[in-house]
Amino acid sequence: MSAQVIDGKLISDTIREEIKADVASLLEKGIRPGLAVVLVGEDPASQVYVRNKAKACEDLGFYSEVHRLSAETTQDELLQLIDKLNGQASIHGILVQLPLPKHLEEKPVIDAISVVKDVDGFHPINVGNLMIGDDSLLPCTPAGCIELLKRTGNSPAGKHAVVIGRSNIVGKPVSLLLLRENATVTICHSRTPNLPEVAREADIVVAAVGVPKMVKRDWVKPGAVVIDVGINRLPDGKLCGDVDYDDVAEVAGWITPVPRGVGPMTITMLMANTLKAAKRTNGIQ
Ligand code: GUN
Repeated sequence: MSAQVIDGKLISDTIREEIKADVASLLEKGIRPGLAVVLVGEDPASQVYVRNKAKACEDLGFYSEVHRLSAETTQDELLQLIDKLNGQASIHGILVQLPLPKHLEEKPVIDAISVVKDVDGFHPINVGNLMIGDDSLLPCTPAGCIELLKRTGNSPAGKHAVVIGRSNIVGKPVSLLLLRENATVTICHSRTPNLPEVAREADIVVAAVGVPKMVKRDWVKPGAVVIDVGINRLPDGKLCGDVDYDDVAEVAGWITPVPRGVGPMTITMLMANTLKAAKRTNGIQ
């Protein structure tokens, strides 16, 4: 059997068209969704991500500001900028690109972002709202995984989902979202015994560990849906996921490739969150 490919780029493009239509009707009301992206230092990967976020804003008709701060920026200077953006009416979403340079602490920075502008969904109040099932801004990559499942007719309801990885950015929130979608969820991590056996029980496998090609075909039940969140760079410069794609595609029912799988969804969900924040601020459903 050969798995059906879940084309994240195609699904992401479809969602972007939906967002564009929504933006057009907001513009008629005089509202333009606005995103502020803050980059501290010169991490090359972060620079690429930030450029892509600004480009997405431009393509979708959002207002955007990119604040590029020097690597020597102090914690106080960064907090002052966040405070200013929290009070700025043209800005509905604030994203501080992570990781921060080593001398800066992430937690006070995340905590300082206004809950209603936290389009990364990293603020403890948004995390708590996700936990209890209240409406909130959802973390982008996990929300993207759920969209990929739903938009390919693989609704998680009644399925057994096995999540490999327990990070705050992906593993834990995607587990909570799957639970909210009525999946039965098992969360695995580096200390889980018999990981391949546990994964083989799954109707849906989400791999988010950061280990290149870790998930092999004998970890996957025939016909299962495999969502690969990993983006790893191999010594030859090529990208690969946490799933051994060629091997697993022979047994899975559905699989996301890397690139063109989960990756394109992350920025698209960031745009969707910024749109949502802009609507909420203006009392629009
Ligand atoms: N760095 C890598 N991924 C992310 C993300 O989703 N949000 C932020 N703020 N920084 C990141």
